[in-house]
Amino acid sequence: MARTLQFADMDKMLSLSKRRGFMFQSSEIYGGLGSTYDYGPLGVELKRNVKEAWWTSVVTERDDVVGLDSAILMHPKIWEASGHVENFSDPLVECKSCNRRYREDQLEATKCPECDGEFGDPRRFNLMFRTFMGPVEDTSHELFLRPETAQGIFVNFTNVVNSSRKKLPFGIAQIGKAFRNEITPGNFTFRTREFEQMEVEFFVKPGDDEEWLNNWVTSRFQWYLKYGIREGNLRLRRHDGDELAHYAKDTYDIEYRFPWGWGELEGIANRTNFDLGRHSEASGTDLTYFDEESKERYIPYVIEPSGGVDRATLAFWLDAYDEEPDGDNSRTVLHLNRHLSPISIAVLPLSRNERLTPTARHVYDTLRKTFSTQYDDAQSIGRRYRRQDEIGTPYCVTVDFDSLEDHSVTIRERDSMHQDRVEIANLVNIMRDRLDHGW
Ligand code: GAP
Repeated sequence: MARTLQFADMDKMLSLSKRRGFMFQSSEIYGGLGSTYDYGPLGVELKRNVKEAWWTSVVTERDDVVGLDSAILMHPKIWEASGHVENFSDPLVECKSCNRRYREDQLEATKCPECDGEFGDPRRFNLMFRTFMGPVEDTSHELFLRPETAQGIFVNFTNVVNSSRKKLPFGIAQIGKAFRNEITPGNFTFRTREFEQMEVEFFVKPGDDEEWLNNWVTSRFQWYLKYGIREGNLRLRRHDGDELAHYAKDTYDIEYRFPWGWGELEGIANRTNFDLGRHSEASGTDLTYFDEESKERYIPYVIEPSGGVDRATLAFWLDAYDEEPDGDNSRTVLHLNRHLSPISIAVLPLSRNERLTPTARHVYDTLRKTFSTQYDDAQSIGRRYRRQDEIGTPYCVTVDFDSLEDHSVTIRERDSMHQDRVEIANLVNIMRDRLDHGW
């Protein structure tokens, strides 16, 4: 579909976000907490739909991936074995005059951009948040908030193999919160200190890893296209050797062209046998796998597609935004994929006339059992269509005075604004068909 805008304007998106309830600054009435956000009534539905679309694609539709929901708090030795205590850090420099802190690797200037002051010596800053378990706050009770969900999967590898009887190659998927004390968070929900990840650890026989890396890169890239990101705004970038994480042999990033430039949505890494090997050694538990076909025992290699829920939600939302010419005016519309839209169907009585209300409420009560549905009878029908366009609702169902006679309603489609009339008795089946298969 031809679009008017290539990029969304961030100021307009922030205004839309606040006005319509997508994302809000966290703790706003107390002046806000830096770089933390809350999802409003529409944002939470959009984010739930993104997670559902991911889960459907990597778990429900596959025979070789099972799910997991592991705890955020984990044994502190996990983070020593995984290398995060030693390596999960960014280079930090602090201005000697104003004490502002920056990530050295993201700085172009040699002096403080804020006050032109001199920087002190760079030092490594570990990004893990610390907390204490129980009532005593000493180092023997110190824990970390997980900086990635992946480790919860690695330490459950044997539990899942034994309980699910899965054979290699197979994966474990998980969606959950992760925390990083980022030195320079920013760009709205792109880089925050509390965020959600959706990760798969896909275990393969050593030697099969490179082929599986390619498979996952292709299928994850296709997923973003399938759910509406325009091809020109998505690209794949392979990591240079000096960029690779401490556990990775090879990594591809899927990047989106955000209004401020290209940024990572998801990394697909070949983590080799690093994590299972380290946990085997550190815990003393044998995490090898017995391959019944080859009669060998080995530590599996791991391919890891690791995406950010908040970044994907942000990218789908930004990419859907358009302002289309509409006569002398323009129409703001979110062309969200219909599986991601916060509201699938809006039921709109032509007016608040009391004769229309019973039929309109009946239609609404019927649809809401199956679909995410909103009832809106405030203001003119034209303004209500515009309100639904702006939040990306793919279908409006209008109840008018003819509906009382012919027991039919008008379906109005968001993108083409095409309208057609269908019988109320068939409405659920028709809507299911259109939501599943398109306009
Ligand atoms: N387990 C591998 C891992 O955590 P990562 O590249 O550090 O890899 C994976 O993170 C994804 O998590 C990123 O591609 C990004 O989408 C998301 N992510 C990472 N840090 C984030 C942050 N500070 N704010 C929002 N999302 C973040």
